Amino acid sequence: MKTIVSTSEMQKFSEHARLGRKTIGLVPTMGYLHKGHLSLIAKARRSCDVVITSIFVNPTQFAPNEDFARYPRDIEQDTRLCKSAGSTVLFVPKESEMYPEGYSTYVTVDGLSTVLEGKFRPTHFRGVTTVVAKLFSLTKPHKAFFGQKDAQQCVVIKKMVMDLNLGIAVVTVPIVREKDGLAMSSRNVYLSAEQRSEALILHASLRRAEEMIEKGEMSATAIAAEVTRLIQTRPSAKIDYVAVVNAESLADIDSIGRGVPVLVALAVRFGTTRLIDNTIIKAQ
Ligand code: PAJ
Repeated sequence: MKTIVSTSEMQKFSEHARLGRKTIGLVPTMGYLHKGHLSLIAKARRSCDVVITSIFVNPTQFAPNEDFARYPRDIEQDTRLCKSAGSTVLFVPKESEMYPEGYSTYVTVDGLSTVLEGKFRPTHFRGVTTVVAKLFSLTKPHKAFFGQKDAQQCVVIKKMVMDLNLGIAVVTVPIVREKDGLAMSSRNVYLSAEQRSEALILHASLRRAEEMIEKGEMSATAIAAEVTRLIQTRPSAKIDYVAVVNAESLADIDSIGRGVPVLVALAVRFGTTRLIDNTIIKAQ
């Protein structure tokens, strides 16, 4: 595995790979890799000749009150994991090259960026779409791999790719969970033992939503109310939102239509740690 730091070297590498008719896959990450990230790399490996994993803790997607400074970092371990998962290139750009003095260009996906997460993190997706657009320009991928864990991020990136005619296939990869159901996240290290055990209610409540829909519940309000009730049984859980929306448009729905994928998404704080989780369900 080759590590590239320079943005111009990254572009040269990808231009060369494209000239050699290699299929390039990109897995963008902020590092502190876990099995969720590694599943994206493994998936990319199966259909691409070259897999570029990027690690960049992107300052523009964190609000001033968020955890940018304390976001966990471990580049040595990440390098080992990336290599063993089958990445061909590890791209670790420097902040000074990504956002040099005087940087002033941003990509915004209107509408989709302002609902769900966007209500609580109004500048978040502008940072995500800007950095992902830059990573696309630097690595020139044919395919880019994103986790279902960040469901709204997948929808927003797909819209950006379509609106800007970027011609990149965006592949969504299922959520990887710990054995007890907690969705893997670099932020799980912030949780105390007690918070971690209370956080298991997130997956349990999503399972309950799946079960309700399987049994024929069609009311989005009833599902959201039950998920909310279950989460509220855990004393340290503070809900930002529980939403039942159309999985493609993220629009609010009243009732669940047969065959229409529905996204049940939630964001809950345990102390200062904010966790997100979701499930996509299709009523038969
Ligand atoms: P990060 O949180 O590091 O996540 C990188 C990728 O891994 C994202 O596509 C995310 O959805 C996926 N991922 C995280 N946990 C997962 C899990 N448990 N199962 C499956 N996939 C999982 O998302 C970002 O970084 C950034 O916003 C980024 C896209 C890199 C832009 O800065």
